Amino acid sequence: MSKSTPPPGTSDILPEEAPTWNFLEDSAKKIFSLYGYGELRTPIFEYTEVFQRGLGNETEVVKKEMYTFEDRGGRSLTLRPEGTAGVMRSLSGTDALNGVEHRVFYIGPMFRGERPAAGRRRQFHQIGVENAGKVSPELDAECIAMLVHYLNEIKISGFTLYLNTRGVASDRPAAEEALRTYFAPHIDSMCDDCKERFQRNIWRILDCKQENCRKVIDNAPDAADFFSQESKDYFKKVCNALTAMGIDYVIEPRLVRGLDYYVHTVFELTHPGLGGQTAIAGGGRYELMLPESNKPIQGVGFAAGMERLIMVREALGVPPLLPEHPKLFLASMGDKALAFNIALSAKLRKAGIRTALELESKSLKSQMRSADRLKAAYSIVIGDSELESGKAMLKNMSDSTQKEVKLTLEDLKNELC
Ligand code: HAM
Repeated sequence: MSKSTPPPGTSDILPEEAPTWNFLEDSAKKIFSLYGYGELRTPIFEYTEVFQRGLGNETEVVKKEMYTFEDRGGRSLTLRPEGTAGVMRSLSGTDALNGVEHRVFYIGPMFRGERPAAGRRRQFHQIGVENAGKVSPELDAECIAMLVHYLNEIKISGFTLYLNTRGVASDRPAAEEALRTYFAPHIDSMCDDCKERFQRNIWRILDCKQENCRKVIDNAPDAADFFSQESKDYFKKVCNALTAMGIDYVIEPRLVRGLDYYVHTVFELTHPGLGGQTAIAGGGRYELMLPESNKPIQGVGFAAGMERLIMVREALGVPPLLPEHPKLFLASMGDKALAFNIALSAKLRKAGIRTALELESKSLKSQMRSADRLKAAYSIVIGDSELESGKAMLKNMSDSTQKEVKLTLEDLKNELC
């Protein structure tokens, strides 16, 4: 490990990468506001119970991946592994619990102690939205449509939207029974995790990625066949609304999602450009329990992984956004010129012109090397004669053409803005 390397599964976002990140964030703010969503910023850590209760103690995230610590006051706190539980903790102080609709989005780092790989990080970033308070299949469809709108805006195409229904709690016993009957004769040949899931939470088996297990899972009954007519109708309405909005989807009966709070609609978007980690975004409708509450908070939402969105843009050949380079480089010949340029640079920057210069005496050759390295659009060399005449040559660095300009703020602004 070199001393400049951050901990495994984390990365620095460098100045040359930041413009693409800002673009993804700005686009999210723009698109989500079209649908009436406002930004909510919650703490990076929450009481551990918020996630244990909210996501479910049997989920991989809660069982194996949380970064939990005790603070000096003896409280158990956890770095947020996802955004939904914290957002609902915040909204539980509003009338969302009484069925009043709240539309929020969030952007920020999440933390999961997973085995790092391409597209699988321990600190990663999500752009997410939650629509809390109301229950309606049309809302679920609108939420998915907004995600698709956002992906179009950030130039991501070629993804597949997988859709399924988890039904509601009262639908589950009959479906679980059918799954149990199906898996029982196969379970000995399945992986150890699946054997455990068979005992503790049979739905999780449907999530298994092991090739051997997949062969069995692919022939499992469709759990939705055992759901109530009401739940089937709910799902049908989601599908119809998506079709009406022209959104293509594939129904995937094995899609259960990794968190326990989901009911009714669940969805995941995958992209072939990602290789192993195929989900760029996922979400669904949920009923989330909070500590010290006996009533779940209802909502629908999704989160997209920013690292994965960037990987897909790269795979699609979308050019990254570039940092803004200086508009003008001021080169100084001598101490008087340097003092003049320092004062001029302050005025230019206040006028909104990105200006660069060396703040110490250097040879002209070395200063022009800096201008090239910084990719300045224009340069001006100022020495005694320029100071005397009040004029200098403005050089266009890309085609080397030159033009005489007066060294006043007004004239420079006219030339450069
Ligand atoms: P999730 O499927 O766990 O859902 O995560 C959403 C997205 O975050 C994934 O599709 C992926 O793009 C990204 N992601 C997850 N884990 C990692 C990781 N270790 N490294 C890089 N990217 C990752 C949720 O988090 C739910 N809270 C979504 C939701 C919102 N459901 C309802 N509302």
